[in-house]
Amino acid sequence: MSSVLKFSNASILALTLFYLLLGVSEAKLKVGFYSQTCPNAELIVTSVVKESTATDSKTPAWLLRLHFHDCFVEGCDGSILINNGDLDIERIAMAHQGLRGFEEINKAKSKLETECPGVVSCADIVALAARDAVVLSKGHNYQVETGRRDGLVSRNSLVDDFPDVNDPIQLLKSKFRNKGLSDKELVLLSGAHTIGSTACIFMINRLYKFNGTDQQSDPAINPIFLSQLKTHCPRDGDGNARIPLDKVSDKVFDDQILSNIKDGFATLASDARLNDDGITKQVIESYVGSSASKSSFGLDFGDAMVKMGRIGVKTGSMGEIRKNCSLFN
Ligand code: HEM
Ligand SMILES: *[C@@H]1O[C@H](CO)[C@@H](O)[C@H](O)[C@H]1NC(C)=O
Ligand SMILES: *[C@@H]1O[C@H](CO)[C@@H](O)[C@H](O)[C@H]1NC(C)=O
Repeated sequence: MSSVLKFSNASILALTLFYLLLGVSEAKLKVGFYSQTCPNAELIVTSVVKESTATDSKTPAWLLRLHFHDCFVEGCDGSILINNGDLDIERIAMAHQGLRGFEEINKAKSKLETECPGVVSCADIVALAARDAVVLSKGHNYQVETGRRDGLVSRNSLVDDFPDVNDPIQLLKSKFRNKGLSDKELVLLSGAHTIGSTACIFMINRLYKFNGTDQQSDPAINPIFLSQLKTHCPRDGDGNARIPLDKVSDKVFDDQILSNIKDGFATLASDARLNDDGITKQVIESYVGSSASKSSFGLDFGDAMVKMGRIGVKTGSMGEIRKNCSLFN
């Protein structure tokens, strides 16, 4: 009896050790993943983002959007960066129209390959650049987890469950939930639209064919703002003309976009839809409503970005570390 007991104690110990070791070797994202292998990695990315922003103040908005588009298709694995001449790559899908920032990511990658070849993934560069974009726009800093590996797949057809600007609120909510993000995080992350701009093509339905009805515009738009939007984006005008997402402060990462949405001044239809649902409306109120504590949007946004940055990541020995972010190795 006692020898059986001893044996089982020993096997419990062995099992415990086994799981401990497994836990240690199990790859996870962590803050400062490159602190030993490429100590300047984050500084190098920051310097490239700063330099590019000094040249073109639209850069932070491009880089912030790029991280979202990367994460929502195939996980945050740099698949959106692939531009290898294939006709089927992810980035050609309509949902990704207007994406920019690829040159900045490639510039950072070149510098990192000189400093520590084969170490820093393109997916991590995108995640770090998005944070730098927020900070450079006077938003709150947050710590970025790193250790992502680059994916081996980039296909146009994978874009199907990507959020569309004309989606109703229930669909937006379910597309975020499918990625493990809550209704609150849908609101917080949509708050990224406090910087940047949209092409008029994304406004056509909202202004001239709302809900599929000709001549109808979104009743959620304040009437004065509606006529301004129509002036900027005439029905048969230039679809590539751009208008700010936050009509008040499109270069500053503040909580203005939430006030805009609350008051009928959202530029994008998907932002306006956040008012159509009790839960998401309540989240907006909690930041910019009359009894809100006001100061926490920036901090909560950072937390939501960290969560978004975990979607479908490849770690450990999965995927690869690309040498050139536009190409599979
Ligand atoms: C809720 C789902 C979302 C929809 C339907 C959506 C849709 C759009 C659309 C249509 C544009 C205009 C694109 C263009 O014309 O270049 C845009 C721009 C932008 N989006 Fe979103 N978006 C969503 C969520 C997000 C999230 C989660 C982020 C980041 C965390 C984000 C960041 C941005 C930024 C920064 C811009 C401005 C880009 C620029 O100025 O070039 N968006 N979004
Ligand atoms: C949208 O169209 C559907 C029918 O196609 C209708 O039931 C609904 O009320 C419309 N919504 C708005 C806001 O016009
Ligand atoms: C990366 O690949 C692209 C596409 O082939 C090419 O244009 C670019 O010059 C490459 N960059 C570097 C640093 O090799």
